[in-house]
Amino acid sequence: MFPKINPTTTPSWKLLQEHYSNIENNTIQHLFELDSERFNKYALCVGDILFDFSKNLITERTVELLIDLSEDCFVKDAIQEMFNGSKINQTENRAVLHTALRDFTSQSIKVEDIDILHQIKAVLNKMNSFCKRVHEGEWKGYSGKNIKNIVNIGIGGSDLGPVMVTEALQPYKLENIQAYFVSNVDASHILEVLHKISAEETLFIIASKTFTTQETMANANTAKEWFLNNGGNAKDISSHFVAISTNQKAVNDFGIAIENMFEFWDWVGGRYSLWSSIGLSVALTIGYDKFEEMLRGAHSIDLHFKNAPIHENIPIMMALVGIWNRNFLNIPTEAILPYDQYLHRFPAYLQQANMESNGKSIDRNEQEINYQTGPIIWGEPGTNGQHAFYQLIHQGTQKVACDFIATAQSHHSTGNHQTLLISNFFAQTEALMKGNTHTNPYRVFEGNRPSNSILIKKLTPYSLGQLIALYEHKIFVQGIIWNIFSFDQWGVELGKVLANNILLELSNDDSIHSHDSSTNGLINAYKKMRN
Ligand code: F6P
Repeated sequence: MFPKINPTTTPSWKLLQEHYSNIENNTIQHLFELDSERFNKYALCVGDILFDFSKNLITERTVELLIDLSEDCFVKDAIQEMFNGSKINQTENRAVLHTALRDFTSQSIKVEDIDILHQIKAVLNKMNSFCKRVHEGEWKGYSGKNIKNIVNIGIGGSDLGPVMVTEALQPYKLENIQAYFVSNVDASHILEVLHKISAEETLFIIASKTFTTQETMANANTAKEWFLNNGGNAKDISSHFVAISTNQKAVNDFGIAIENMFEFWDWVGGRYSLWSSIGLSVALTIGYDKFEEMLRGAHSIDLHFKNAPIHENIPIMMALVGIWNRNFLNIPTEAILPYDQYLHRFPAYLQQANMESNGKSIDRNEQEINYQTGPIIWGEPGTNGQHAFYQLIHQGTQKVACDFIATAQSHHSTGNHQTLLISNFFAQTEALMKGNTHTNPYRVFEGNRPSNSILIKKLTPYSLGQLIALYEHKIFVQGIIWNIFSFDQWGVELGKVLANNILLELSNDDSIHSHDSSTNGLINAYKKMRN
């Protein structure tokens, strides 16, 4: 296994600190004035995606030292180990192989002597033929009607990826099929969906890696009960409920036949599971072939990530610039700002991918961390965000590192919408960098605020796969450099345990005294209000 190094003890980290103190009073704009080649130096391309990181407070020396940092932290070795199937998720004793799910080129990838490529292929084939049967009307509901609605019931990684992708790829949506997503345990979520559909034309997909997640199981049971009360019989469950899970026994106990279960494996992390059978709702919505195009797009980035030298390697450079902003400029947050309405759920998707992966404070040597790790991720599409929170990004006291993402070709040629949209994209990145002067202090923009720009030729299944994979690998590299385990999520567990304890306490109207005074007070007030 590659060494577990506290990054702050490396020579490159110390040199980066010194270097920062030399350039901190510089401005990004001044760096542009000094070097007319700046864009060419700090923009990289892979396929039809361009990544421009020139609007950051970086010089050639910064990049050189950041690359040294990645070498001091054995990033390239870590990448190899991930792709080879080493158990780099040590706290869960698991390999990390979501990349294998989209690998149509390798001959064999083994986990504990099992060739997982065969398993993956078998599940993809099963998904493909299932989608065909649904689309061609061979798979019927209990009354003989075709399936018109699919309802994906899942949460976290079993929801956010499929939601984000089905929204992003709406132009590719097949006719006669409508996807709904239910995640929240709040009954409003499922009831609002059930109001819109009829049992005889609906397929429920229960998506849960563990098949024990409280929210998903509550929603799945409500869906089953609703189905049985709205025309379906117990024998019809097999044609209206399928499961996606690693837990065969729990699926069976729920009443879903094993032939209606789409398997995946413990070496696929929940927030990296979009590429597995968790993508079934996507394949049903846009067709299996388009789903596979997305996998192929992601695979093209895997090859780039594995093979490109560090200075040309977009995910590594994204990660290094992020570390520069986080650890040296001390910027605690990254805004994800897609200038493409179809990407409106991309910030929420990345929030889980990034914050659940790198929101850690114990390092890989079980030591408490004395430097900053994962940033706060948030965002909304442009131009909406401009009329909401950009004020703070331009003039607030807290700097925000921004990722602007735009697609050059719109799916629509209506009026001048696309040029209006894109002119705002360019204007914002320029304004953040340059700022402006004014005699009225309230109208001064200090500028010098860092941003990356990602420009994609067109949003297709292939390029979306590429975009997601770029960010996945960025997160991976940062986790390696921060010396944390990016593929576990123990922090989510405490809330689950406490909620289960409180659930018992809510089963009667007795006054509660077992918690702190605030929690007791809130529970007791709730008990009064609910009656
Ligand atoms: O939020 C914690 C988490 O474990 C996520 O990592 C995961 O994506 C989500 O819950 C859902 O888990 P499951 O797919 O097992 O229902």
